[in-house]
Amino acid sequence: MTVNIVVGMQYGDEGKGKLVDFLAKDTDYVVRFQGGNNAGHTVVVNGEKTILHLIPSGAFHDNICVMGNGVVLDLEELKKEMDMLKEKGVDLSDRFLISENAHLILPADVEDSKADKIGGTGKGIAPAYTNKFAKIGLRARDIINVEEDLHEFDLKARENLVKFKDFLVEHSYLKKSIVNVSKVLNEAIDSGKNVLFEGAQAVGLDIDHGHYPFVTSSNASAGGACTGTGVGPTKIDKVFGVCKAYITRVDRDGESPLTTQLDDKVGKHMQVEGNEYGATTGRPRRCGWFDVVLAKHAIRVSGISGVVMTKLDVLDGLKEVKICTHYELNGSRVDDYPADAIVQRKCKPVYETFKGWENTKGVKAFEELPLEAQNYVRKIEELICVPVIMVTNGSDREECIKLKEF
Ligand code: GDP
Ligand code: IMO
Ligand code: MG
Repeated sequence: MTVNIVVGMQYGDEGKGKLVDFLAKDTDYVVRFQGGNNAGHTVVVNGEKTILHLIPSGAFHDNICVMGNGVVLDLEELKKEMDMLKEKGVDLSDRFLISENAHLILPADVEDSKADKIGGTGKGIAPAYTNKFAKIGLRARDIINVEEDLHEFDLKARENLVKFKDFLVEHSYLKKSIVNVSKVLNEAIDSGKNVLFEGAQAVGLDIDHGHYPFVTSSNASAGGACTGTGVGPTKIDKVFGVCKAYITRVDRDGESPLTTQLDDKVGKHMQVEGNEYGATTGRPRRCGWFDVVLAKHAIRVSGISGVVMTKLDVLDGLKEVKICTHYELNGSRVDDYPADAIVQRKCKPVYETFKGWENTKGVKAFEELPLEAQNYVRKIEELICVPVIMVTNGSDREECIKLKEF
């Protein structure tokens, strides 16, 4: 029995979808615990690419897909995604569960989020979480309440129920999937099942541990898996952090800090070779060198016990590669990720430079990688003080190299 969590260690799009698909073959329940369809998780199986925004990336295996209470749910988008998967031969109708406590993204929230000032995804995420904490939101449970006429006593306090009653009724076909997810998962764990929690976004975008306000509205770090599903921390075995071999970040105006950003031909190389365009918005992602300060922050905040480093192949062909080992601010060394975006912006990256390598594509064993690529991975491992358990060298499910059993 294993209960593991996958989280992003940078600013999203690290390849969580690929890792979750890889791990899901041995998993009974794959669970999203926060965020909504602002996520874009790519799974490539035998060359066929699917981008999932809501449904867990384990869907391509025979397991149960779960949306925890920490997720915000756009029901229209959910339906579209289910239909898209059905067309690909993946029928989830009998293996999909939604927490009755998951909050809904309402059409009005999507409209409201278009005015977002920090370049959000415009998917209604911040308004839905705002309503949740203001205690005026609608939950999946309300679909059942409306059907069973249980809501009448509540109407005065909850204007949204009146405004969106028809909307809820339209989605009553989901009724049989809406359950007590905490109970289902705890019973599954107690009976020896394997459960995998799939983080969306990343520690750098976490509402509490990222650079506020350039963050999303949920806890994308590992703690979110507990609060976002109703599974206690004593039930968790391992936390896997996913990072790229470099770094990317995406928002509307490129205003958020990205200390190691490259605006030169090396940055362009990463963008082109890594196909760094948002899976949800299509926006180009800014690129830069691997940042050890952020990685260590992510490891501490999420208790990461093993790191999966993706997209090593994207650095193929570069003459030299760099790792940002720490920052410098007003002549002093900075090793701790600053809490404040304004401070972060003033930090200058300090790099160690290494010789590059030609080709990692198609390689199946770590020892067969070019020596320089092996050294690069080992150097990062030494700097972050957590084992790298797998590297990936291509987008397909099969393109990964295990360094350790996990
Ligand atoms: P997620 O949000 O963390 O699931 O990541 P995304 O799916 O948004 O972005 C990761 C992108 O990198 C996707 O297009 C993946 O297909 C791709 N990808 C994942 N691993 C690798 C890899 O090792 N090499 C290359 N070249 N692409 C990869
Ligand atoms: P995955 O799960 C990359 C970014 C947005 C914006 C900020 C707030 O695919 O890694 P919000 O959706 O809360 O309005 O956005 O966070 N962002 C992401 N960037 N990957 C994601 O998800 C992201 N989800 C949100 O671009 O800057
Ligand atoms: Mg993504």
